[in-house]
Amino acid sequence: PIDYAIRPRRLADYIGQPAVREQLDIFISAARNRGESLDHTLVFGPPGLGKTTLAHIIAAEMQVDLKSTSGPVLERPGDLAAMLTNLQPGDVLFIDEIHRLSPVVEEVLYPAMEDFQLDIMIGDGPAARSIKLDLPRFTLVGATTRAGLLTSPLRDRFGIVQRLEFYNLAELTEIVARSARLLEIEADREGAAEIARRARGTPRIANRLLRRVRDFAEVRGNGFLDASIADQALNLLHVDSHGLDHMDRRLLLAMIEKFEGGPVGVDSLAAAISEERDTIEDVIEPYLIQQGFMMRTARGRVVTQQAHLHFGFDAERYPPIHSND
Ligand code: ADE
Repeated sequence: PIDYAIRPRRLADYIGQPAVREQLDIFISAARNRGESLDHTLVFGPPGLGKTTLAHIIAAEMQVDLKSTSGPVLERPGDLAAMLTNLQPGDVLFIDEIHRLSPVVEEVLYPAMEDFQLDIMIGDGPAARSIKLDLPRFTLVGATTRAGLLTSPLRDRFGIVQRLEFYNLAELTEIVARSARLLEIEADREGAAEIARRARGTPRIANRLLRRVRDFAEVRGNGFLDASIADQALNLLHVDSHGLDHMDRRLLLAMIEKFEGGPVGVDSLAAAISEERDTIEDVIEPYLIQQGFMMRTARGRVVTQQAHLHFGFDAERYPPIHSND
């Protein structure tokens, strides 16, 4: 409920992602001026950057309702048919983790997206019949961690494709300061910035850390959130000075200590740290790559000199790696 309260509801309250904001502002205004629904929109990027928030903002700006579901929940064609036949004209249908739709459900989605037609089989055996229904015009907003996970026929049916990036320090500081204001937490700019600096470029993490730092400030301090309190609380939470968490450190240290810095295949890494391959690819490594701690090469993952230095390894023994991919 509190999460809902600090989530921006309108595009004007959304901080960061300037390219996404500018483009959506234009496409939404144009669709509204023509009295049309917005084209189907795909939003992709690492978890916690605001994909769901954007879907809600699109619905609010278009002044329509949003109905929400996810790829894994839509097990059978009838599950999707139930969602589609429940839409009002112009509504947003939000499908999170859309890359996890089963092929049979995806088949039902194609004519729905393209021609606003529902075309499904009911029953089976000799009694099976195909039924066709007209659907209201609607906007599908799909969210996924990586656009490359979608089949190309599905990807091709989105008229608008937006990629969310990690937030920079200034943007994330503003997000933390805004959340602190809405949660009535007394904080100064440096306190907000310290949380932002250590939140992996991710608003969801920043907002979670903000709540934990507030707890620390109330119990160990006088309730005021400044840089020193934030630093002490984040150290207690094992978030290091670069904002790397326990999983980040485990991944990088495994590469250094078990695989001589790489190259190492992602499946070998997954086995070494007992983590799912998907979690490494979608959650852990995007930020580490963006920050220059590791690289993805044709022969596998490789740690950088910066990672060695971060953990206090002798940089002379680990010269910079020159990749030719
Ligand atoms: N909370 C989460 N993401 C946000 C964003 N991009 N702008 C403002 N507040 C947010």
